[in-house]
Order: sequence, then structure tokens, then C-alpha cells
Amino acid sequence: MKKSIRAHAAEVIDALQNQQSNLDALLRKHSVHLNPNDKKLLQSICYGICREWFHLEAIESQLLDKPLKARDQILSAIVRCGIFELGWMGSKEHAVVSEYVDVTVTEGRPWARGLVNAVLRQFIRKKSELKMERHSAQTLWNHPQWLIDAIQQSWPDHWERVLVENNVHPPMTLRVNRQKLDRDAYIETLTTQGIEAAPGSAPDSVRLAKPVPVQSLEGFAEGFVSVQDESSQWASIILHPQDHERILDACAAPGGKTCHLLEMSDSQVIALDVSEQRLSRIKENLVRLGLRAELIAADASHTESWWDQHEFDAVLLDLPCSATGVIRRHPDVRLMRSETSLRSLIGMQTMILDATWDTLKIGGRLLVTTCSILPQENQHQIRKFLERHGDAHLTTINGVPGLDTLYGTQHLPTHAGGDGFFYALLVKSEPTNNGVSA
Ligand SMILES: C[S@@+](CC[C@H](N)C(=O)[O-])C[C@H]1O[C@@H](n2cnc3c(N)ncnc32)[C@H](O)[C@@H]1O
Repeated sequence: MKKSIRAHAAEVIDALQNQQSNLDALLRKHSVHLNPNDKKLLQSICYGICREWFHLEAIESQLLDKPLKARDQILSAIVRCGIFELGWMGSKEHAVVSEYVDVTVTEGRPWARGLVNAVLRQFIRKKSELKMERHSAQTLWNHPQWLIDAIQQSWPDHWERVLVENNVHPPMTLRVNRQKLDRDAYIETLTTQGIEAAPGSAPDSVRLAKPVPVQSLEGFAEGFVSVQDESSQWASIILHPQDHERILDACAAPGGKTCHLLEMSDSQVIALDVSEQRLSRIKENLVRLGLRAELIAADASHTESWWDQHEFDAVLLDLPCSATGVIRRHPDVRLMRSETSLRSLIGMQTMILDATWDTLKIGGRLLVTTCSILPQENQHQIRKFLERHGDAHLTTINGVPGLDTLYGTQHLPTHAGGDGFFYALLVKSEPTNNGVSA
């Protein structure tokens, strides 16, 4: 029997609860046989639930007489999906209740039909008061407490705005391929088609008033334009690639920055990523845009496995990070990360930084970027790097929107503008005889 869209939704939420995989991967897996409308509905339910995760959790625990057994956690996912549709999506009450009651059967828990029916009907009766009640910081901001604390400590003057921004829908931003046309011309084309668009902060960026399917964008298939957040676009602008330079993009997939570097210059880009599967997405982007790069599947921190000892003029290090600057795009980040996972990410970043520094020529520049807003991954990481490497110098970055810190520029997510992002530009100098830089 064909599985209902609501059964798919409950399974995605159950898998997220168990931290089996991330939201996008789960949606891809569950959407394989769905038509476009069902795909969209599944995505709206699951993205929406992630945005309201802690509030929904609190409502659910009020409505259940006693906690569910560990082996019946799928029922929690079923109830949560039902509550979200009834309370936030305005779906038809009768259809929602009866379909989620049926999901108990699909999921092998027919004995729970009455339970799900009773909980959802009770929610309908008390909806307004339950939606108003937000007794803890977690339910108020829909973030885990450790992350609220971390953001509050890191950004005492901005933390409330950051938490609000993390819960809004992000803008869709495009990067116009400057090799093929200029930004104003493309904005004009969009306007003629009735798509409202305006220039973004980064030189090639275009902000759309409303998201549209990429395939409907004029010239997308021909490589005139790509989707890329404007904060991410600043990375290649800051690195400022020059013709004939040999550039390493060390954490490159899916290739947004690799392609931007190549659109900006006639440089030789080596795009490296540890994930072979994700590397194939760089290939797709290069083909669509008519660009060429050398692709290597390897761990950047093990230079002996991939580096030919030929030094690079420039290195772009878009480090794997907590992704706390892009929670509005990936609302499940708030569930997948923890203080423990943060510590191991920081260790991995340190190893990649130290290893790739050795591949840079004297006088060369290395740009570190993350889509994190946590200083431990950003300013602190750079401060410690400078303490370890006497031949590294931090360069001032001008003209980029963001907060200047002692160890780089931090952009916090903004409603109409870019994602949360960090940039630090380092230049390598000649070491002196005692190993300290000149
Ligand atoms: C933030 S994403 C990069 C996004 C990319 N720069 C872009 O603009 O499209 C980080 C990437 O680092 C890769 N990665 C993680 N650990 C790595 C390692 N040790 N060596 C190389 N790549 C790594 C991940 O597979 C992921 O694709």
C-alpha cells in the first residue's frame, strides 16, 4: 500500500528525534516517489516542525497523560506532526485528525488510534491557550538552552535579534555569473518576468522578494546564474582571485565558492573535499556553468595523501562548522548540534587549518570562513592559530558588512540580507632564522 504523506512526515520527524540523519537527507529519501505538491507539503510540515521544535515538545508533553515508552517514540512524532498542522498550517481539522490516526496503523501501533485521536482533539479545543504558553527560554526562542546561552554570551548586544532571525524564512539570493552578463541586466530580465528582485550587498548578488523554483529562472540551465547566499559570496570577493593563480579550495563541496572564484578569474582552482559524494555536486555545478577545476576527494588535514608539494598562491578554507549562522536555512541544526559535537568540530578545524597552512607559499593568502556565529570556531580559533604560527598575519578586511572583531569579521544573520558568516584573511610571511616571522 502507498504510504501517506503524513506517514512520511512522522517518519522524518521520528528519525530527526533519534538524530539518525539531517533534515535535507531525510526529505530526499522520503520524497523519491512523491509528486511535486506532496514533496512541497512534506517539506513545509518538517521544516515548520523544526522551527517550532521546543514549543511543540512542551505542548505535546502537556497533552499526553504519561510519557511514551522509548519503543513507541514514533507516536510522539505522529502527534507532533498533527499538532503542527492543526496549529500552524491551518489544515482541515477532520482530515488531519483522521489521517494521523491512520498513521498509527501504518507504523504498526493500531492500539494507539484512540490516544492520537484524543490528543489531537484536545489540542483543537485548547489551541489558542496552548499556543500562547511559552514558559521557558527554550519554548520562547525554539532553541536548545545551551545554544541560547552560547549566543547570549557571545553577542550580549545582539542575541535576541539573532534568535529571532534564526526562526524566520531566509531570502533566496542569486549570484549572477559576471562572465556572462552583469547584475543590473539580470535584475531587469527578472523584473520583466514579474519577479521582484534587488541588488544584494555582495557585488554579484541579487535578492529575490520571494523564492522561486530554480528551474524557472531565466538562464539557470545555461549557467547565467546560481543560488548562493550573499554572505557566502563575500568569501571569493575577499580572497580576490587573480588570473593564473593556483588556488586551493580545501573544503569545496558543493562548490558555490569554487565556481565563484572561477567566474571571477582565469585561475587554476583545485577543489578538494573529503566527501566523494558531495564532490559530484561540484562537478554538476562546474558543468552547468561551463567552468573547469581539478577535483580531489581527500581529507584536507592529511596533506601527504593529496598534496604534490607545489605551493598555492591562495587557499580558501570554508571550514566544516556548527552551521549556527544558517539555522534559518537548516532549522534542524538546532537539534543536531551539541556542546560535545562543537568540541570535536573545533578539533577538526584546527587540524585542517594547520595542515593547509603548510601548502601556502610565502606571501600567499589564506581565507578562513565559517557559517558559524560562535566565537570558539571563529575569533578564538584564529587567535590560537596566530599564537601557533609566527609566520601568519591577520589582514584587515574592508567593505564587507559585519562586525569587526580583533580576529576577523563576523556577520550575524539579517532578515533581508545574508546568513551568519565569519571571515579571517591571513597572509604568510618569510620565517626568520629563529623560526619567528619577519
Ligand atoms: C561548509 S561546507 C563547504 C561549502 C563550500 N565551500 C561551498 O561554498 O559550496 C564544508 C565542507 O567541508 C567538507 N569537509 C569536512 N571535513 C573535511 C576534511 N577533513 N577535508 C576536506 N573537506 C572536509 C564537507 O564535506 C563539506 O562539504
